[in-house]
Amino acid sequence: MSKTDSIDYRGKTVVISGGSSGIGLGIARHLAALGARLIVLGRTQAKLDDTVATITAEGGEAHAYAVDVRESAKIGEVLADCKQRFGGVDVVIAAAAGNFFAPAERISPNGFKTVIEIDLIGTYNLFWSSLSALNKPGAVLLAITAPQAQRPMPAQAHACAAKAGIDMLVKCLAMEWGALGVRVNAVSPGPIAGTEGLAKLSASPEIEKFVRDATALKHFGHVDDIARSVAFLCSPNAGYITGSILDCDGGMRHGNFISL
Ligand code: NAP
Ligand code: COA
Repeated sequence: MSKTDSIDYRGKTVVISGGSSGIGLGIARHLAALGARLIVLGRTQAKLDDTVATITAEGGEAHAYAVDVRESAKIGEVLADCKQRFGGVDVVIAAAAGNFFAPAERISPNGFKTVIEIDLIGTYNLFWSSLSALNKPGAVLLAITAPQAQRPMPAQAHACAAKAGIDMLVKCLAMEWGALGVRVNAVSPGPIAGTEGLAKLSASPEIEKFVRDATALKHFGHVDDIARSVAFLCSPNAGYITGSILDCDGGMRHGNFISL
């Protein structure tokens, strides 16, 4: 084992959208504990303040910007400010998303557009605005996708379309920006206990059981499972990995429609 096998984020600046709750918060705390300076983006100032306080109390460094990922001009201003204040950015993580559980006939065109704008266009806004702020070569972009990208799920037409778009975007940007020394990957979480995303999909105890049984491992994941996958993919240990989707989903993407 060489020294580079251990994961160390000291001296690295990480920007994360959606880092103020759930999976994004878990990633932010984990990377801060590994030494990174965290820049957290979200809409709600109070949640951002709590996140900065939590990471600071844990001995880390965090800063926050209240911004909506749908507002491309403001995202651009945030990244330009990060470049000026922190001397550039090493890792950018797009974890912000919006979802609701609704059969397609109850997803209005505006409801569909809203989820596409937060998830897919919001990811593009963040990555595109980051390019001029990245410390290249060696920078990393990472999107949080979902099993919905790979298999159709009922009441998830908007999220399935958005996340499938994210998977292809990751592969396209990896091919275009690899020559600049930028790796682009995604992590696809399965159902993660205690999160808003899972709560939105578990409209009843029966659905919650169905979702759990749809994993091969028959249990929900933990935010730390995702945080560790992200820490690996954004580290030099994954230096030859780009354009990849890492499934951290307990096998959910393969699905189980019949219980044995
Ligand atoms: P969550 O707790 O609801 O967190 C969403 C985060 O995104 C919050 O920080 C939220 O803060 C921010 N956000 C939402 N809309 C935004 C916008 N328009 N602009 C900027 N920030 C915005 O969600 P989660 O369940 O942890 O999910 C996190 C990610 O994992 C998402 O990409 C989701 O699709 C993915 N995922 C989750 C699961 C799961 O089981 N939970 C499974 C697969 C994939 P504000 O509301 O203050 O803006
Ligand atoms: N069922 C059907 N349509 C819904 C809905 C639901 N449960 N919730 C919202 N919509 C529709 C609205 O009716 C509206 O469409 P309309 O104008 O045709 O009526 C459209 O979606 C936008 O709703 P709005 O509340 O204005 O959007 P927003 O930008 O304020 O919020 C959401 C975005 C709806 C995704 C909101 O749930 C959110 O902010 N979520 C972030 C947290 C989250 O979803 N976490 C899980 C991540 S996987």
